[in-house]
Amino acid sequence: MTVIAQLSDIHVRPRGMLYQGLVDSNAMFARAIETLNRLNPAPNLVLITGDLTDEGSPDEYEALRELLAPLKHAFAVMPGNHDDRGHLRAAFADQLWLPAEGELHFGIEVGAVRILALDTSVPGLHHGELSLASLTWLEQELAANEHRPVVIAMHHPPFVTGIPYLDLYGLRDVGAFVELVSRYDNIDRIVAGHVHRSMQTRIGSVPILTCPSTTTQIALRVEPDAEPASYLEPPAFILHRWGERPGSAVSHLCYIGRFEGPLPFA
Ligand SMILES: [Fe+2]
Repeated sequence: MTVIAQLSDIHVRPRGMLYQGLVDSNAMFARAIETLNRLNPAPNLVLITGDLTDEGSPDEYEALRELLAPLKHAFAVMPGNHDDRGHLRAAFADQLWLPAEGELHFGIEVGAVRILALDTSVPGLHHGELSLASLTWLEQELAANEHRPVVIAMHHPPFVTGIPYLDLYGLRDVGAFVELVSRYDNIDRIVAGHVHRSMQTRIGSVPILTCPSTTTQIALRVEPDAEPASYLEPPAFILHRWGERPGSAVSHLCYIGRFEGPLPFA
């Protein structure tokens, strides 16, 4: 059994500061860690798919390392549009998966699968892009892992959400990425963040899932002139599992916190 817990968009703030001046994103991330520590079986890896911090500042990354300290599982983190590659790299310099320079792409073996963390961030801007170097790295990894399931993890998802104020900051020029994905049959699923909501779609037969935020969720408003907004909907993460039996690869949406129950099974 291989289990990966995906969290996203935790938006950690400097100690004592609120996210958007309103929400204690650090306390909400601490609750997520408590929930992860209760998982049975334990996940092989906790993967956080970007927007680790809100402003990419060194004191936010310092707060993040403190908040991660109680986590009982291995973890890996990747950048989103609110992160800063240099400050992220400095804060996680002790982690073997982190590349020493350039875009923060990396591959990790996790049980039966290989995770390909694909950096879609553009320094100083909120939309996502994939450089030629990024696509070349991805193709090399896909070709080198033809005989095992691969998960592509990225901050910006490679599709149009239909929420206009989100799509302004989406992944641009996805054509070459879609074409590349279509040429390989070892891609088990694509997982992303950025949109602060659970969404599912696909490229060909490859499913794409987005992970909710551990803090606020972006409002589902699809009218063309929609006002951007967020809600304190229940925060959640995703548990991706691969069992021994064929057909046992599944992704579960899991709410964070403690809930009334267990009640009798019915
Ligand atoms: Fe975010």
